[in-house]
Amino acid sequence: MKNVTVIHHPLVQHNLTRLRDARTQPQEFRRLLSEIAGLMTYEATRSLGVKKVSVRTPMEKSAGVQLEKEIVLVPVLRAGLGMLGGILEMIPHARVGFIGLKREETTLQAHFYHKSLPKNLSRCEVILIDPMLATGGSAVAAIDFLCEQGAKSIHLVSLVAAPEGIRRVRKSHPTLPIFTAAIDRQLNGVGYILPGLGDAGDRLFGT
Ligand code: PRP
Ligand code: URA
Repeated sequence: MKNVTVIHHPLVQHNLTRLRDARTQPQEFRRLLSEIAGLMTYEATRSLGVKKVSVRTPMEKSAGVQLEKEIVLVPVLRAGLGMLGGILEMIPHARVGFIGLKREETTLQAHFYHKSLPKNLSRCEVILIDPMLATGGSAVAAIDFLCEQGAKSIHLVSLVAAPEGIRRVRKSHPTLPIFTAAIDRQLNGVGYILPGLGDAGDRLFGT
């Protein structure tokens, strides 16, 4: 699928398998999710723009580069929090915004309950973080809101994506880059990803 990158790196796939495993308990689930998010960050940030700078080493002047734009990470609460720490380890200077969305169990509609974003999003690279892209309703709501707030460049990082969710994001945002560790088979009748890993928020926080 266009602009969808599946990260096949063996460390990513190894961790994903352990996250899928129903026997993995919250403590280990948290560690693995954070670690895999860090690994996925390499791929998700590969195309970020850099500008040339010069730097003075202890020996002489050297050519170098620095990131062109500021980076803003936006985890979707709750489950996105499980990926935040690992990504911040890779990009410690990033600013962080939060979007609270809860998918209603029967209608599968996502409802906002929290929004807080840094200013000047239009000048930033925004990385939207949510481990699960299921129907795509939460992702589209979050992306629409980020666009309303001025974001011009958004990357979506989702650990597991359903084809239905990718199609929904594609329909509203045809060129937005999506990074995932797996495109799973399908959604079940109540909007869960198959084979998936269950309810990411519940597994993360032991609820
Ligand atoms: C989960 C998940 C996504 C959303 C995906 O969150 O973390 O945000 O569902 O589903 P969708 O693509 O069909 O919208 P949930 O709303 O269950 O909240 P939680 O993270 O607090 O558990
Ligand atoms: N949210 C989850 O946490 N898991 C799914 O499979 C679908 C939505």
